[in-house]
Amino acid sequence: MSKTKTICFTNNKGGSGKSTACANLGYELASAGKKVLLVDGDMQLNLSLSFFDEEDVLAMAESEKNLYFAIKEKKDLKDYVVSTPYENLDLIPSSTLMSQVEYELFTMMQREFVLKKCLKSIKESDIYDYILIDAPPTLGTWVINILCATDYVIVPVEASPWGLFGLANMFDFLGGMQEMTEAKIMGVLITKVDERKNYYKQTREILENFDNIDVFQTFIHVDSAIEWAQDASKPVAVYKKSTRSSKEFQQLAKEVIQYGSRER
Ligand SMILES: Nc1ncnc2c1ncn2[C@@H]1O[C@H](COP(=O)(O)OP(=O)(O)OP(=O)(O)O)[C@@H](O)[C@H]1O
Ligand SMILES: [Mg+2]
Repeated sequence: MSKTKTICFTNNKGGSGKSTACANLGYELASAGKKVLLVDGDMQLNLSLSFFDEEDVLAMAESEKNLYFAIKEKKDLKDYVVSTPYENLDLIPSSTLMSQVEYELFTMMQREFVLKKCLKSIKESDIYDYILIDAPPTLGTWVINILCATDYVIVPVEASPWGLFGLANMFDFLGGMQEMTEAKIMGVLITKVDERKNYYKQTREILENFDNIDVFQTFIHVDSAIEWAQDASKPVAVYKKSTRSSKEFQQLAKEVIQYGSRER
């Protein structure tokens, strides 16, 4: 079995903190000495924009070296990897053309497993400790591809009145895929916690009542440094090491690493 663990970030609710968690957890795992590949699976390009400025991201999106063309042409993704400015951290960039990926997949044989096949040689090479995939806020064939290519799922959930709305649907959707994937929910990550409001406690209580769903001990507070960091195309720890969310993502990386050692 490959040592590489693939983790995707998914929640069909938009704006729940998927891309933010994927980028910052990726950076923290890399800082902890793990070799990490990030895969930007969303046409919004948010994961790519977390590490490169707009000009570079658009150039990658307009080139043929991005995830859309690799999927369309069923290419080996090892030829699509770019280095980020950070040690141990690589990226497969996305394209706005990912908006057409459902259409491209529609006529393909074994259409649920295209991403899995494109990632096969990277996974088998054992170069990476972790492959982190950022999913879009949808539940179509493309997200099924992401789930089929994944060992573990992290579900970011916003601590807000509507944050949990539709979550049971998503767990059912994952449950319904059991024949296609062994993807397992590693945990729900509570994000955008605002202590002036009392949604955090309520959110954790409700989540803890779901059967067989773990919730990470670590949660992420609302932190304006996250938005400033994204504006500067940097992980929050690089933008401002001392900020609260930077320490929280570092703590989350510890939980994820510990989860791996528990599993073995
Ligand atoms: N902890 C936080 N504190 C403050 N702002 C945050 C935090 N987490 C995320 N945000 C902001 O919330 C917005 C949504 O976050 P993000 O893009 O990570 O969510 P997403 O789930 O990936 O969204 P989508 O479903 O559109 O892909 C972004 O503008 C981001 O800057
Ligand atoms: Mg996103």
